[in-house]
Amino acid sequence: MSLQLSQTPQPGELQLHPERTLLQTLQQAGHPWREACRNGVCGICACKLLVGTIDYKTHLPRGLNQLELDEGLILPCIAYPTSQHMQLDTPRYPK
Ligand code: FES
Repeated sequence: MSLQLSQTPQPGELQLHPERTLLQTLQQAGHPWREACRNGVCGICACKLLVGTIDYKTHLPRGLNQLELDEGLILPCIAYPTSQHMQLDTPRYPK
C-alpha cells in the first residue's frame, strides 16, 4: 500500500500500514501536519482525499460537516487506508 502526497512541502510516496492512521504514517515519515485532538473532533488535520479509500473504523468524522464531506475532505487522524494506492492533497490548515 502506498500514499502519494501532492503539493505538500515534502512531496513523495510513503508506505501505508492498514493498522496505522494516515496521520501516524505522515508524522512517522516526518511530514509536518497540523493536529490537535487526534480523535476526529477538531477538524484541524483535514485534507482532501484525491485517490483511494479510507475507513474511520470506530470514530465518526465529527470535525467535518456534510458539505466538507461532500467535497472529499477527510480526517487523517482517524482514517485508516483501505486501498492499495492513495493520494492526498495539501492539508487544509498547513503547519
Ligand atoms: S486532529 Fe482533530 S480532527 Fe484530526
